[in-house]
Amino acid sequence: MYRYHCLNPIAQVGIEKFDEKYAKTEKIDEADAVLVRSAGMHEMEFGGKLKAIARAGAGVNNIPLDKCAEQGIVVFNTPGANANGVKELVLAGMFLAARDVIGGINWVQEHEEDGDLAKAAEKAKKAFAGTELEGKKLGVIGLGAIGVLVANAAVHLGMDVYGYDPYVSVDAAWRLSRNIHHAKTVDELYKECDYITIHVPALPDTKGMINKDAISLMKKNVVVLNFARDVLVENEAMVDALVSGKVKCYVTDFPTPEIAGVKGAIVIPHLGASTEESEENCARMAVKELKDYLENGNIRNSVNYPACDMGAKEEGSRITILHKNIPNMIGQLTAVLAQENMNISLMANKSRKEYAYTMIDVEADVPEVVEEKLEAIEGVLKVRVIK
Ligand SMILES: NC(=O)c1ccc[n+]([C@@H]2O[C@H](COP(=O)([O-])OP(=O)(O)OC[C@H]3O[C@@H](n4cnc5c(N)ncnc54)[C@H](O)[C@@H]3O)[C@@H](O)[C@H]2O)c1
Repeated sequence: MYRYHCLNPIAQVGIEKFDEKYAKTEKIDEADAVLVRSAGMHEMEFGGKLKAIARAGAGVNNIPLDKCAEQGIVVFNTPGANANGVKELVLAGMFLAARDVIGGINWVQEHEEDGDLAKAAEKAKKAFAGTELEGKKLGVIGLGAIGVLVANAAVHLGMDVYGYDPYVSVDAAWRLSRNIHHAKTVDELYKECDYITIHVPALPDTKGMINKDAISLMKKNVVVLNFARDVLVENEAMVDALVSGKVKCYVTDFPTPEIAGVKGAIVIPHLGASTEESEENCARMAVKELKDYLENGNIRNSVNYPACDMGAKEEGSRITILHKNIPNMIGQLTAVLAQENMNISLMANKSRKEYAYTMIDVEADVPEVVEEKLEAIEGVLKVRVIK
């Protein structure tokens, strides 16, 4: 029986995926696995029983990743599970930038007492007229889970789409519409596009990417959308560009005092992934990852250990070892099994920066002494035998 603990409410459709092999516990010390959304975990102490933490969502800055890795606790997240929710809000952002729908709705509310509202509206409406998206050029920076969906959807709206991502994954490239122009440099995209949307992670080389210099390359009246991270866009430069009229509209999911209230800024209170479906997808994916790790030892979508997958555990036992990425580890691990005359039927070893993971399938039961000897090897962090 495995026990799981929820640090935040997790969507029921995910919890339902735990079968009779699982029980919920209110005590984190008893848990084999923890599910979390935004609860801060940096000050928490973890008992020796805890094997895995799954964050139902993408960002993991509420979890101490290195401390967990050091204690042999694998941390998972759910990349892409909320991508469709974000994509839909990006599209909404483009529509709101193209026409002054917000101004128009506000006007109606201000005039709701007017007895002849329809006639007054006909006179007033020219102030809220706009343009259409069809035929306009859209630049998408970052073609990952969200960027690909936005780019493909924009093609269907009749936009001329440019994509820029020097590190695009093979998987994402397969999903990308063939109608998308491949921008070789981000400057090319800045110069060409009427709408620019950014979908990259916040990394040292992406922070402040949309700054004064980048904006100076853009067309006058450009629309910039940021549903990725606040730090990607330099607020001061963006405010200046809105005030001067260089940028027609800045649609952002990250409210800050500097940008809120500036004319031309459409500021949304971080609603990108706030849909029922996103929360459900994240919960389902988080539970699936935990089950696959607990029952089969497979690691998929971890943020502190390498991906490693040997499929479903079959007859016999599977030994999983979380360890430091140091020389001669495999030699020492296999030597222990050789001493006990155990035959290895399948084995995998993957590393990621300082940490590594080894999975070994053996045909027989694993004597306790093997577990003890493996645990005693310097650099081994956690050993588990899945029977
Ligand atoms: N608004 C929200 O509520 C919300 C919700 C989910 C995700 N996000 C944010 O959206 C962003 C994208 O998320 P995702 O799930 O698509 O991520 P992802 O990891 O699937 O894709 C990111 C892409 O950016 C590319 N990239 C990295 N550095 C780049 C650079 N310098 N230039 C161009 N491309 C670069 C990568 O190759 C990758 O393809 C992240 O910043 C994430 O935090 C926001």
